[in-house]
Amino acid sequence: MILPKTEEEIKNIRKAGKIVAEFLEKVEKLMRPGISAKQIDELAWEIAKKRGGHPSFYGYRGYPASSCVSINNEVIHGIPYKEKILKEGDVVSIDYGVIYNGFHADAAKTFIVGDVDGKIKLLVEVTEKALLEAIKFLKHGVRTGDLGNVIESYVKKYGFSVVKEYCGHGIGRELHEDPPILNYGKPGEGIVLVENMTICIEPMVCAGSGRVKVLKDGWTVVSEDGSISAHFEHTVRVGEQESEILTQ
Ligand code: MF3
Ligand code: CO
Repeated sequence: MILPKTEEEIKNIRKAGKIVAEFLEKVEKLMRPGISAKQIDELAWEIAKKRGGHPSFYGYRGYPASSCVSINNEVIHGIPYKEKILKEGDVVSIDYGVIYNGFHADAAKTFIVGDVDGKIKLLVEVTEKALLEAIKFLKHGVRTGDLGNVIESYVKKYGFSVVKEYCGHGIGRELHEDPPILNYGKPGEGIVLVENMTICIEPMVCAGSGRVKVLKDGWTVVSEDGSISAHFEHTVRVGEQESEILTQ
């Protein structure tokens, strides 16, 4: 049984979401050649702590950092090693979650360092737009299959592929709650989403096939064909008519 959140619970998720949003806004200034993923991660830790929260990824199933920094062919869960140095033309996906007063919020954004070719710019734009289209479509009564279909159809129009092996999720007292929010699906299928459920929608999109594998570090998910990928995520409250982004 998936319960909608109470007003009080949503307030806490919204507060956690503000901290996540603050980080994703501030981190943009660090997106330049020569900066290490570790420096990005330090900012992630600092902002959570300064605002009275805690970075929820830290220690999650043994994850060793506060954020995920995934570069180019890395799709998600890239570990922010100090040896990972940003360079001109990198496509950098940053994923971050905060727990505040017992409640989580989680979001991700892909940044471009300097300049890249038009197709890669389009990949990043389309991934963000797919997320925004899904949020626009989401309201009381929508099924997870409807939502997944909106995302995948949008992405396919541009010749890109969604990653099917990972998905979005419900969120609240846990970072990952039911239901799974797939980035593909058939209209009319899946679970019915109702007002005040809180979910994370997170399209992961590759320029190539969309098939992925996990590196030997046990975390980093890369595209199997080495193609560039992008990832955007928001924590969203399902609204009666219009849904609310909690991570902005
Ligand atoms: N941010 C991921 C998600 O959206 C979870 C990261 S897992 C971690 O679900 F281990 F890296 F924390
Ligand atoms: Co998530």
